Amino acid sequence: MVLLVKFIHQLNTIERRAKPLDGPRNLRIGLPSKGRLSEIASELLGQAGIKFRRQSRGLFAKVSGLPIDLVFLRTDDIPTLCAEGAIDMGITGSDLVEEAGADIAVRMKLGMGRCRLAFCVPDDSDIANASQLDQSRIATSFPAVTRRYLADRQAEAHLVALSGSVEVMIQLGIADAIVDLVETGSTLAANRLRILEEIGSYETVLIQNDRNHDPVTADRVVRRLEGVVIARDYSLLEYNVPRAKLADAEEITPGFNSPTVNALEDEQWCSVRVMVKRKDIIEAMERLETLGASAIIETPISNCRL
Ligand code: PRP
Repeated sequence: MVLLVKFIHQLNTIERRAKPLDGPRNLRIGLPSKGRLSEIASELLGQAGIKFRRQSRGLFAKVSGLPIDLVFLRTDDIPTLCAEGAIDMGITGSDLVEEAGADIAVRMKLGMGRCRLAFCVPDDSDIANASQLDQSRIATSFPAVTRRYLADRQAEAHLVALSGSVEVMIQLGIADAIVDLVETGSTLAANRLRILEEIGSYETVLIQNDRNHDPVTADRVVRRLEGVVIARDYSLLEYNVPRAKLADAEEITPGFNSPTVNALEDEQWCSVRVMVKRKDIIEAMERLETLGASAIIETPISNCRL
């Protein structure tokens, strides 16, 4: 907490030096300072036209052409610093938001960094569910979430709170079970662990506090990010289809809002343009072809406004 207060003081001092005392300040967005999430966030902002140059290991960066300052922080501090008002928005994991119990809103899901938080035990353990972990030792980086989950099941455990390498704690003899993030499951397999019970699913999110500092710029950021996030999930599909089959085709590809239908020279036919989820595209193309559609073309999109 002392560190947090010092940090906010530092931010405000820098701001006072840069601007008149009562002048408006830029919108501040907190970004992970290192690791994979840092790269993901920078790439996403770049695609959304939020351009910046960060000096190596620098704490701050200005965004060109927009009243935005970026602040590079530990990913797990971002929810708390947003709730305290040191930053107005931030990119972090929804798992960390839940753990921090911070009073902030999730403005949007960024469609990446998906993982699960789960109780895990040795492969050969007889334990059948999390309630049976009452009075056991559990190593985790998520003590608050774990405690709450167990309390809801009238169980209580000795929690060993750690900031990493949780997966080896059973082997080290200091825990009977762990609560850890699972993405591909390879860490569990390598340590001969299995999922006992899932606590929840999480992903990378954009958060915002309720202080409403520069809502116009905040909304611009959200719209820009939405354009990229939606585009990553969808492709544009174009095809020709007999008019008599149009209703069936629209059932296969209902679109984000609704398909665009244009007339063709041959009045019996029409052409359709529609957004389709990338994961559904192959099956949709096969079904359209079976229906009698032709000239079916998928075009990836990199940005959109819907
Ligand atoms: C996370 C998590 C698991 C691992 C899960 O660790 O704590 O250990 O990823 O991913 P998987 O299911 O794809 O193997 P991270 O790499 O972030 O480092 P940490 O152990 O220091 O937390």
